[in-house]
Amino acid sequence: MDYNNLLKDKTALITAGADGIGYGIAKRFEEAGAKVFVCDINEEAVDRVNLNHSNIRAIVCDLRQTQLISSMVESAFDYLSKLDIIVNNAGIAGETAGVGEQTLGGWQECLQVNMTSHFETMRIAVPRMEDNGSILSVASVAGRVGFAYRLPYAATKWGVIGMAKSLAVELGPRGIRVNALLPGIVEGERQNKVIEAKAKVKKVSFEEMKKEILSGASLGQFVTHDDLAEQAHFLCSDLGKNISGQAISVCGNIEKAG
Ligand SMILES: NC(=O)c1ccc[n+]([C@@H]2O[C@H](COP(=O)([O-])OP(=O)(O)OC[C@H]3O[C@@H](n4cnc5c(N)ncnc54)[C@H](O)[C@@H]3O)[C@@H](O)[C@H]2O)c1
Repeated sequence: MDYNNLLKDKTALITAGADGIGYGIAKRFEEAGAKVFVCDINEEAVDRVNLNHSNIRAIVCDLRQTQLISSMVESAFDYLSKLDIIVNNAGIAGETAGVGEQTLGGWQECLQVNMTSHFETMRIAVPRMEDNGSILSVASVAGRVGFAYRLPYAATKWGVIGMAKSLAVELGPRGIRVNALLPGIVEGERQNKVIEAKAKVKKVSFEEMKKEILSGASLGQFVTHDDLAEQAHFLCSDLGKNISGQAISVCGNIEKAG
């Protein structure tokens, strides 16, 4: 097996993939030989991707606007010609607050990006994707353990795992594998904002909150974008050819969320 070229001649659509975890996955897939299409709300990030990659095409799309998803998928097919892999990566953090302080608008926005965009992308793309392909939905450890003060986010991540497990059964006869990837505490700006917001709710310092959150993982450390890209590469290539319907955590073993 040629480990450096496992995605040669494969094509992938990655949502919200011009920055962060999705971009890490896009770069890894390109390195492994795939042609990749990403969409993202961030115009600057989209321009940066188009400037720096010959085998990744990025377009602007706000995934809160469900009606834009069918033309986004159409653009993916135009660029890729066929579709082997879908990575449903879109997911916003949502509000951090006690249940009484959460807003209905925040709940709806979280559902829109974290679940409805996944559903709509798959609803439109799956009937046209190649048999024996692979779908990876980015959930979170918040879809495996209780997650205080993040009710909308946690609800969507349990939902993403439910969709992945159900589709794995439905698409098995076509040889399409469907899995969920559950990142833990990921190093970066987004996690810093999450720590800041939780510190505010719990009335403790940033450093205290960070320590508490990291103490929930047996390995006591942050996960990196590279850790997640490697796992996505594994699951979406032939290395994972018998893995489907699984919710796989890359989290240093979080058993209790901070
Ligand atoms: N960062 C973490 O600590 C962490 C932990 C567990 C799970 N996750 C999950 O991993 C996935 C990626 O997270 P990340 O840390 O890279 O996020 P991020 O906040 O860095 O955002 C990733 C990308 O999503 C884009 N985006 C945001 N709203 C969008 C919208 N409405 N339409 C289109 N694109 C939009 C952003 O522009 C960005 O390029 C999400 O599903 C997230 O829930 C992240």
